[in-house]
Amino acid sequence: MQDASGYDPNYVMGRSTAETDRLRRQSQLYDASTRQLFEEAGLSEGMKVLDIGSGAGNVSFIAAGLVGESGRVVGIDSNPEIVEEATRMARARRLDQVSFRVGDIDTLELERDFDAIIGRLVLIYLRDPAAAVRRLLAHVKPGGIVAFQDIDWGDGPIAVPPSPLLSQAWGYVKEMFQRAGLNNRMGLSLHGVFVAAGLPSPRMNLFAPAGGGPDFDGYDYMASGLRSNLPHIVRLGVATEQDLALDSFAERLRAERIAQRGVFALPTFVGAWSRKASR
Ligand SMILES: C[S@@+](CC[C@H](N)C(=O)[O-])C[C@H]1O[C@@H](n2cnc3c(N)ncnc32)[C@H](O)[C@@H]1O
Repeated sequence: MQDASGYDPNYVMGRSTAETDRLRRQSQLYDASTRQLFEEAGLSEGMKVLDIGSGAGNVSFIAAGLVGESGRVVGIDSNPEIVEEATRMARARRLDQVSFRVGDIDTLELERDFDAIIGRLVLIYLRDPAAAVRRLLAHVKPGGIVAFQDIDWGDGPIAVPPSPLLSQAWGYVKEMFQRAGLNNRMGLSLHGVFVAAGLPSPRMNLFAPAGGGPDFDGYDYMASGLRSNLPHIVRLGVATEQDLALDSFAERLRAERIAQRGVFALPTFVGAWSRKASR
C-alpha cells in the first residue's frame, strides 16, 4: 500500500514488541474516549457494525462491548498480519461476535446492511477521505450511524510552560504528514469530510490525555509514537535519528517537565458522528 511519497501505514504498524507496547498504552489512554464517542453516536445492543482500518482490533472490541452478544462487528484492514493478530485477540477474549477480514477501503466487497460504520486513526492515512466515506456509505442502511475518531496535531503541543523539546518533536511529525501529502489536522477536518461525503453536519468532540509529574504515562507514549513514525520522518528528510535521540526522549521530557513543574497534553483525538439520510 506504499504510495509515491514513500508513506506506508502498514510499515508504521509493523509488529514488534515496541509497537505492541505502544498500542497497549494508546488503548489505556484513549479507549474510554472512543467508547464515549460510540455511545453518543448511538451504538447499541444487537447492531451490526463495520470497523474500517481495524488494526489490532481495539476499536472493534470497544464496539463489541456496546452491541453485545446479539450484535456483530466486522473489522477490515489492508494489512494481513495485523488482521491475523486481531483475530487471535478476539479468540483470546472469547468475542464470538467479532470477525476480521483483509480488505482495502477502495475495493471493499461487503454486505450493504450495516447499522453503523466506525473507524479510528484511519482517515488520516487516506489521500481522499471524503471519497472513501462516500463509498463506505453504500454499506450502511438508511439512517445508519457514521462515527470516526482521528488525530489532530493542532498548531503545536499544549504545554504549560511551553516545552521546546516537545515542540520540536511535534513539529517533525506534523511536517512528516505534510510531506507525505496527508492532513495532519484530520481530527477537526472530519467535519468537512462528512459534509463532502454527503452526510449531515456531524456532532463533534475533542479528547486529549494530559499530565505532568514523574508518573505520567505520556512521556513513554509520546516517545513510542515518535518511534513508530521515525522511518517516515527520516525517509522524508524531516529529521535524522540523531535529531530525535529517541532512546533518551522520554526521560528528557520527564526531567524537563518535573524541573519546570510543567504539564502537557498528548495529541488530541477528535470524534465526529452523524447519520446517513433515512431515504
Ligand atoms: C493507526 S492504525 C489504527 C488501528 C485501529 N483503528 C486503532 O485505532 O487501534 C491504522 C490502520 O488502518 C489500516 N489502513 C490504512 N489504510 C487502509 C485502507 N485503505 N484500507 C484498509 N485499511 C487501511 C492500516 O493497515 C492500519 O492497521
